[in-house]
Parts: sequence; C-alpha cells; structure tokens
Amino acid sequence: MTDKYAVIGNPISHSKSPLIHRLFAEQTGQDISYEAIEAPLNGFAATIGRLRDEGYQGCNVTIPFKFEAFKLATQLAERARAAQAVNTLKFDSETIAGDNTDGAGLVRDILENQGFPLEGCRVLLMGAGGAAYGVVLPLLAAGASLMLVNRTVEKAQQLGAAFAARGQINICSYAGINGQSFDCVINATSSGLKDELPPLPDGLFKPGALAYDMMYGRETPFMAFARKRGAAIVADGLGMLVEQAAEAFYLWRGVRPQTRSVIAALRDR
Ligand code: ATR
Repeated sequence: MTDKYAVIGNPISHSKSPLIHRLFAEQTGQDISYEAIEAPLNGFAATIGRLRDEGYQGCNVTIPFKFEAFKLATQLAERARAAQAVNTLKFDSETIAGDNTDGAGLVRDILENQGFPLEGCRVLLMGAGGAAYGVVLPLLAAGASLMLVNRTVEKAQQLGAAFAARGQINICSYAGINGQSFDCVINATSSGLKDELPPLPDGLFKPGALAYDMMYGRETPFMAFARKRGAAIVADGLGMLVEQAAEAFYLWRGVRPQTRSVIAALRDR
C-alpha cells in the first residue's frame, strides 16, 4: 500500500517539496505519495488530526506553522527542541514525533555540495528569527564558531543566550562588524524577500570565503553584494531546501536519497 505524506503550510501552492519527494521516491523505489496541503491559519492542529485519521505517516511543516508543530509534537528530537520549531512530523498510533531538519540541511549543503569545511570556521550568522534558531546547533556541532548579528541586537543576545552552553558564540551589532572578516557569512534574515540588504561593511569576506543566502529562487541583494565584495563562493538556499527534504525522507523511510541530481533538476526549471 502507498504510504501517504504531505507538506502543510499557508500559503503552500508554490512549494517545491512535492516535486522533491517525488524525485526521491522514484530514485529510491519507495512507494509513497506526497502532496501540498494548505491548512487554514487557525486550523493547523485540526489538519494534522485529519491526516492522522486518514492514515498519513507524516508530514513536513512550513511557514507559518513550525512553532505550532513544535507545540503539537508529543516527542521532540534534540535539534527540534533547540530550534523551538518543527519542520518534520512522523505519526504512529500513539505519538507525534517532531524533528527539525533545516539546520542539518544547511550544514550538509555547505559541507557536501559546496565542498566547504566548517570545522574551525569563523561564521557570521545574520538574523535572529526562526530561520536563525533552526541552524545554530548544527553549525556549532559542525565545529564552527559563531558571530551572531541582528538589527535588533537584543534578539541576537536572546538567541546567543539560548545556545551559550553549546559552543563558541559571540554577539555583535552591524556597526560592530566593521573591521572584522569571516570565512563564511550566512544570511538567515528575511531581507532578501523585500529586496533589502542588511547594513554590511566592506572587507567582510576572508580569502576563499563562502556567502550563503538561505533564500532561493532569485539573486538576493546579499548575494550580489557578496559577489562584488570578493566572496569566493556564493550560494542560495536551494541546496538547503533539497537537503532538509532528504533528511526528512530519511527519517520517514530509513533510506537516504542522492540529492545532487535533484538539486540540478530543480535548478533547470
Ligand atoms: P523568520 O522567523 O522567518 O526568520 P522573523 O522572525 O520575522 O522571520 O525574522 C526576520 C529576521 O530578519 C530578523 O532577524 C530581522 O531583524 P530584526 O529582528 O532586527 O527585525 C531580519 N531582517 C529583516 N529585514 C532585514 C534587513 N533589511 N536588514 C537586516 N535584517 C533584517
């Protein structure tokens, strides 16, 4: 029998997840279906209840429901607890297991697809919203030291405090970055959505540096800035999108799909 999965969000019509999971299923010979479902803004828990009643095995969760999924889960993976957000749910008759594969997806994309080692790296992480919370622990676990920067510095301080015991973290304002340089700069802000550029100084990128924008679909002002200011590698978040999906697929199916061909297929479209 075909096992059923879905991605739940609002809006959801533009999600690439159904295509990604269809390609994974074809490649691995797994008999699954995967669809995009728009839950009403006040109807996330009811939608999950319906999916469980209808025999779905799990789902991905995206904006704006990741915190609700975190609260709804009856078991949490450590990285989901740290992120205070859940993007992957796995159902059985008693439990709703919650995990967060976003940070693992980012780290895997950087290490495997960009070929960029994070061990001992000095990383500047921009932003202190949900996107940043999701990636701090996996970045620390990969051996990076983190400088957190946010327009509202108090939010960066809160983020830093939440992870202080887990690795080397410093906090800075944008003005305070002046004169400092980094091996890797990651944009976890929503600035790209608004075609804005965070107020970054010159001289930010060390020789060989990676600039990574977690957004995908178009060249953001941060990516254009990084190209002009000497970043050696400039990446968007498409690889992270596919890698977080692969990690979810692995959690559900116990099989790890190859991602390279899937990333290439998505780029071609
Ligand atoms: P999400 O949960 O998706 O990350 P969010 O909680 O709204 O979204 O966070 C958006 C992040 O992008 C915040 O860190 C925000 O900075 P502030 O906390 O100071 O608002 C950051 N951000 C948005 N636009 C920005 C811009 N033009 N320059 C710098 N940071 C920006």
